[in-house]
Amino acid sequence: MKTILLIHGPNLNLLGSREPEHYGAKTLRDIESLVKDAAEKLGHTVSAFQSNHEGAIIDFIQKESPKAAGIIINPGALTHYSYALYDALRDAALPAVEVHLSDINSREPWRKVSVTAPACIAQISGKKEAGYIEALEILNKKLQ
Ligand code: DQA
Repeated sequence: MKTILLIHGPNLNLLGSREPEHYGAKTLRDIESLVKDAAEKLGHTVSAFQSNHEGAIIDFIQKESPKAAGIIINPGALTHYSYALYDALRDAALPAVEVHLSDINSREPWRKVSVTAPACIAQISGKKEAGYIEALEILNKKLQ
């Protein structure tokens, strides 16, 4: 059984009520359950974490990555500027998949830039919660 870290960044604790036209109707708990159930079917376990604080996310990655096999991360707005998160993902040396619920390429121009994606093996954007299942499948294949 392998552990996959499921990490959400700032403001994603508000999913369900936050701009549903961009992010859909599912709450963070819904998404975490969805990923946990799908991971269980593949024989994996999920350790989920959300924070509005960059440093707390980095602390979680540093503490948990030695015990984990892969990462699914929606960094929220940290995507667009956090070199510290990029470094933490690189240092974790685990396959990571970046997920965005909304299509970051069809919104404000600054959302098109991801400084964290180059530390990931894939980026999925604009598929709402289905993006997380795709991320899990990518990781599962990689971990075989
Ligand atoms: C997001 C996209 C980001 O631009 C935004 O800051 C978020 C959510 C998404 O899931 O679509 O907080 O990562």
